[in-house]
Amino acid sequence: MKEVRILDKKFRELISEQAIQKRVGEIALQINRDFVGSEVIFVGILNGAFMFAADLFRKIDLTARITFVKLASYQGTSSTGTIMELIGWNEDLVNKNIVVIEDIVDTGATLERIVNELVIRNVAGIKIATMLLKPTAYTRDIPIDYIGFEIPNNFVVGYGLDYNGFGRNLSEVYTLVR
Ligand code: IMP
Repeated sequence: MKEVRILDKKFRELISEQAIQKRVGEIALQINRDFVGSEVIFVGILNGAFMFAADLFRKIDLTARITFVKLASYQGTSSTGTIMELIGWNEDLVNKNIVVIEDIVDTGATLERIVNELVIRNVAGIKIATMLLKPTAYTRDIPIDYIGFEIPNNFVVGYGLDYNGFGRNLSEVYTLVR
C-alpha cells in the first residue's frame, strides 16, 4: 500500500491511478450519451477540480466548451462572517446545458452556492459531476448526477485535492493516516 508524507501528516493510498482513470472514462461515456446531439458548457471549480476537469474534458466528444470559476472566501464583517464569492464567470450561460465539475462534495455548501449562481443566470439545465463524494457529510438535497467514488468522511489529498496547498500533483487519492 503506497504511503506519502505531506508536511506533518502521513497519508495512505485510497484510490489508485488506474481506478481513477477507468472511472473518468466511464463518466465521460455516460455524459457523451446523455448529451448526444447537444452543446454543453463544462464549469470546473478551481482549484481542486483542475485535474479531473482536464482528464474528463479530453474524453468528451460533444460540441463542448469549458470554463473555470473560483470560490474566493474572505472575512466579512462580524455580522456576516465568511463570505464566499464565485469569481471568474466570463461566459454567457443563458439557455446553455451546464455540467459542473467538482473535485469533492463534502457538506455540499460549495455545490449549493454554485447551483444558485447558475440558476440566476437562467441556464437551460444543470448536471453535476464530482470525482469524490462523502455521503455521510453531505447535507444538501441537490442531486449529483455523476459520482466518481463515494468515500468515508475522512480527509483526503491527491488528484487535485490539497493539504495546505500540497499534494495536488498526486495521481492517486490518499487518505489521512496521522
Ligand atoms: P463542501 O462545500 O463542504 O462540500 O466542501 C467542498 C470543498 O472543500 C472542496 O471543493 C474542497 O476544496 C474542500 N474539501 C472538502 N473535503 C476535502 C478533503 O477531504 N480534502 C481536501 N479538500 C477537501
